[in-house]
Amino acid sequence: MCGIVGYYGPKNPKEVIMTGLKALEYRGYDSAGVAILDKGVFKRVRAEGKLSNLSEKLTAEDFNGHLGIGHTRWATHGKPSERNAHPHTVGDVSLVHNGIIENYMELREELIKDGAVIESDTDSELVAHLLNRQLKKTPDLLPAVLAILPRLVGAYAIVCVNVKQPETMVAFKNGPPLILGVGSDAMYIASDVQAIVSYTKNVVYLEDGEVVEVKGTGYKVFSAKGKPTDKPVVEINWTADVASKGGFPHFMVKEIFEQPRAVAQAIQPHINLASTTVEMFELGLDQKALSEIERIFIVACGSSYYTGLVGEYMIERLARVPVECDIASEFRYRHPVLPKNSLFISISQSGETADTLAAVRLAKAAGVKVLSICNVRRSSIDREADGHLYMNAGTEVGVASTKAFSATLSLLNLFSIAMAKAKGKLTLAEEQDYVRQIQAAPAQIETVLNLDKWFKEGADQLKNFRGFLYLGRGVHYPIAMEGALKLKELAYMHAEGYAAGEMKHGPLALIDDDMAVVMLAPHDELFEKSISNMEEAKARGGQILSISTGHNKRLEEISNFYLALPEAGWFTMPLLEVVPVQLLAYHVAVSLGHDVDQPRNLAKSVTVE
Ligand code: F6R
Repeated sequence: MCGIVGYYGPKNPKEVIMTGLKALEYRGYDSAGVAILDKGVFKRVRAEGKLSNLSEKLTAEDFNGHLGIGHTRWATHGKPSERNAHPHTVGDVSLVHNGIIENYMELREELIKDGAVIESDTDSELVAHLLNRQLKKTPDLLPAVLAILPRLVGAYAIVCVNVKQPETMVAFKNGPPLILGVGSDAMYIASDVQAIVSYTKNVVYLEDGEVVEVKGTGYKVFSAKGKPTDKPVVEINWTADVASKGGFPHFMVKEIFEQPRAVAQAIQPHINLASTTVEMFELGLDQKALSEIERIFIVACGSSYYTGLVGEYMIERLARVPVECDIASEFRYRHPVLPKNSLFISISQSGETADTLAAVRLAKAAGVKVLSICNVRRSSIDREADGHLYMNAGTEVGVASTKAFSATLSLLNLFSIAMAKAKGKLTLAEEQDYVRQIQAAPAQIETVLNLDKWFKEGADQLKNFRGFLYLGRGVHYPIAMEGALKLKELAYMHAEGYAAGEMKHGPLALIDDDMAVVMLAPHDELFEKSISNMEEAKARGGQILSISTGHNKRLEEISNFYLALPEAGWFTMPLLEVVPVQLLAYHVAVSLGHDVDQPRNLAKSVTVE
């Protein structure tokens, strides 16, 4: 979850490292720091809070060196504070770490017995102690790293430097992502490509268990046992995604407004415009193999998991193939049975979520084909998968996922059609009808975005509710959960997403006139049932915000607030109804004065369990 950068080269390391950290701030933003070699010593500057605090501290600092490391933190061991901020320096060693060292207690006790003075509450500092101790026996960084590697249990991506080796950086990883950037006169190490893409387009993706030694402008990659490994340099064609808000006050609202384009870009490669049919070429399965799939597992975390729940509904309804959708952090611990002829679908915007990656590996080990739906190409999950569907949503900067959510839903729309076709469950006319529905979605989302004004004006009133219940049935239920998650993470208010039919099994007790009930009830086969659920909530004093389609006198009477979406069927309705719940959370959070792009305690990419 933290972001790490290392640099060797002729440019001012402060500039290069801070540019990299800015691009990585989405990974964590509770403290940050740099250590830059300056006249034979590592000058370390650290600051609690956002990267801007470090930037401010650095304005007064001048560095003359050519080697340095930097870090932006998302706290795991030890609260956010300057003392716990990275880099950690022990003796000659400075390092930055992303991940969690699981045998932290054991190492700490051992080091204390050995006379180490531990300054922070972090697990990362212990690695610096181990290295410093080892350097006394093996004064070169690379053999020292290789010697301590077997002692580290857990997840890590680490860059370390030694004051006595002013041209050397050593980096190693197990779990979290790490890349090496190869410049003509400089070398870069970073948690992701965006951190270095303005300097070089030549990248080496490091795999778990690999160690890279940078010496001047040369580098060598080794296995954890010290065996040299040949690694291809990949030329990427990315451009620096200039983090611009395009006139919007926050990235999140810009990304909400980008959803029509995100959906169009996600579906475009898979639709044959001439025949209005779906053609998915990168599924990692040919048509025959697809037709033989007997069970599908969809595994993801957070918002991505909710898209998976919508996918479960769509695939089962259209293709009649049983689907199990699981939270990735639970999946491997429930000892799942993965029968032959199963397909495993992972959904991850970042492609780096540790639990989702672990679930992918479990599926692969069981011999099951993995289809990845992700946004970040060549991310860890993407690289391990057999088949690929790309969200093509563009970089999502806001920590709360919005456009990646919609892009994923639209890919699941198309995948359910492809699966249904392979199973012979769809006529050409039916397929074309579904394809037209999804083609219509971007323009319909644009219409829904007009609700922005309503939420902006209503936020001051909405923020006074004690809590929010989001209710939906069928395909609307996962969107209810997504709405509640958005409000929790941005407005820090209590919110729950419930299947509307479950209300009388407990949650009705929560309802009084301080409780807002957001009802997702478009006109479909479940509409009448949803109205009954609303009557039940209304009778107990609940304040109802209905999100529906068209007009219905009864519904409008029950509702304190009534919002109408464009007419659409169950297939694409989730794409429309997610927009108002995003706008609700966004505007309430803004009106409460919260940092919507970087909500407290969260990070965009969760690379630890
Ligand atoms: C919520 C949100 C998170 C992510 C989750 C999975 O707004 O963004 O719940 O959806 O952390 O992340 P990815 O999709 O990168 O695996």
